Amino acid sequence: MRKFFVAGNWKMNKTIAESRALVQALLPDLEAIDNVDTAVCPSYLAVPAVAELCLGAELKVGAQNVHWEESGAFTGAVSPQMVSEVCDLVIVGHSERRQLFGETDETVNKRLKAGLAAGLEVIVCIGETLEENEAGQTEAVVTRQLGEGLAGISETQAASITIAYEPVWAIGTGRAATPEDANHVHKDVIRPLLKKQFGQSRAEAMRIQYGGSIKPDNAAELFAMSDIDGGLVGGASLKADSFVAIVKAASMVDIIKKESEA
Ligand code: PGA
Repeated sequence: MRKFFVAGNWKMNKTIAESRALVQALLPDLEAIDNVDTAVCPSYLAVPAVAELCLGAELKVGAQNVHWEESGAFTGAVSPQMVSEVCDLVIVGHSERRQLFGETDETVNKRLKAGLAAGLEVIVCIGETLEENEAGQTEAVVTRQLGEGLAGISETQAASITIAYEPVWAIGTGRAATPEDANHVHKDVIRPLLKKQFGQSRAEAMRIQYGGSIKPDNAAELFAMSDIDGGLVGGASLKADSFVAIVKAASMVDIIKKESEA
């Protein structure tokens, strides 16, 4: 069974001092849970301070984006080498980057390849907008985003990739996808595409997170689904108690699933 992976995406929130305080509040509870992988993704400026606090801890530290070039005249951008100096992982293709900053499947692919080459684990975000959902285009959009986003990626590289399915209409709206609808996309659309590209066993081992309005009170029912392997949590990761409650929900679901398999 795949190990759950719950990551917090703090977006453009928290000063360095606030980021340190949040991680200090998270660490004791998260370090007591060993059946769920966890990560936090602060703003770039807070990353070094958070990484220092996480030295020797299981809690991983990620960046929210990365550029693909090694160095040069790219004002405002951060290179894969810079990120890998302090981070374990990086998020690419978040819908806010796509919608507000003009990122495309092509640049997602470049960021992914550059992140992997620098030794980072990469969370690749995909998901349809409300209009696309209502027009019945979810499968087509997800298929295009995965096809172009993962173009040229090998089975070996795929071992360092997590997919985050985040329907855009569910992000920050308080309106999560139903567990059944999210699981349908994971199980019947994303996993088969991963199988086609990377083969059965790699695809089975890859983690597909759900993201979009995950909260302590809907986490367990989402994680109970067969192909939801964790979550990318935005708003609810900004407070220690709600993030810990979501990680605990994953831990409990894992224990229950293992017991029922035994
Ligand atoms: P949300 O954000 O949990 O606040 O909906 C999720 C995300 O954008 O990763």
